[in-house]
Amino acid sequence: MRIGILGCGAIGSEIARAASTMDGVDGVWLYDVDPDAVALLSDLDGATPCADPERLVDAVELVIECANKGVVQTHVRDALAAGKKAMVLTVGALADDALRAELTELARANGTKLYLPSGAVMGVDGLKAAGEATLKSVTLVTTKPNAGLDRSVDQWTLLFNGPAREAVQRFPKNINVAATLSMSGLGFDDTWVQVAVDPLAQRNSHKVIVEGDFGRARIEVENLPSPTNPRTSHLASLSAIALLRRILSPVEIGA
Ligand SMILES: NC(=O)c1ccc[n+]([C@@H]2O[C@H](COP(=O)([O-])OP(=O)(O)OC[C@H]3O[C@@H](n4cnc5c(N)ncnc54)[C@H](O)[C@@H]3O)[C@@H](O)[C@H]2O)c1
Repeated sequence: MRIGILGCGAIGSEIARAASTMDGVDGVWLYDVDPDAVALLSDLDGATPCADPERLVDAVELVIECANKGVVQTHVRDALAAGKKAMVLTVGALADDALRAELTELARANGTKLYLPSGAVMGVDGLKAAGEATLKSVTLVTTKPNAGLDRSVDQWTLLFNGPAREAVQRFPKNINVAATLSMSGLGFDDTWVQVAVDPLAQRNSHKVIVEGDFGRARIEVENLPSPTNPRTSHLASLSAIALLRRILSPVEIGA
């Protein structure tokens, strides 16, 4: 499969490096508004730098967005309209109901698929399985050190306790995880989010608590940052790489 990466920052460059050595990948096309970001990947076998994103969308079979909401609204949209597969890392963009509905309909109408990796949380497969029966509640408790939330408190402080729809507006930097969980379970209005700052915390922690007909689950991840971007959890790129491998693989594991 020919893969195109839009945005070659922390996540895009990790995906590009992994994709370039993956069975089933017939070349990696790269675009970034910053040519230096693409130049840093010039050592990759089978990589083609693209001068513009339209040419990239034309050339590939799967477009992977690793940039921002604007790229989801434009080039991901164009890719789906052209019947290409698309993977979106800026999952928070889909908290916009109109955009989510438009991209879903484009994928359906053009016989293709929009892929959303599980990102910086674990347990998305179990949450989707549990949702096949009745889910009673889905709660995300995010705890970050002061630096992660631009605070300077000297004791553990609860900053927010409310629905995911409001959380993604108040805490745009946490938007991806809350959006992924909302779309996997109870939606943006019934998924509950708590955001706390802990001056003693060393890592960004996401605790997901799910209750439903299946029983109760509690999944906690303590994320280390990406080696190249301290704002991004390393697990986010790893989840996209694992999803790419799943798209290419003849065997699929997990809900
Ligand atoms: N799904 C998740 O759990 C999760 C976790 C972390 C980050 N993210 C999201 O993934 C995206 C990428 O994160 P990152 O850490 O790699 O960010 P980054 O800042 O390291 O890289 C973003 C890259 O996109 C490029 N870019 C900006 N505008 C562009 C455009 N119009 N076309 C092409 N490239 C453009 C930038 O030059 C930069 O190189 C962000 O939107 C971030 O919020 C998702």
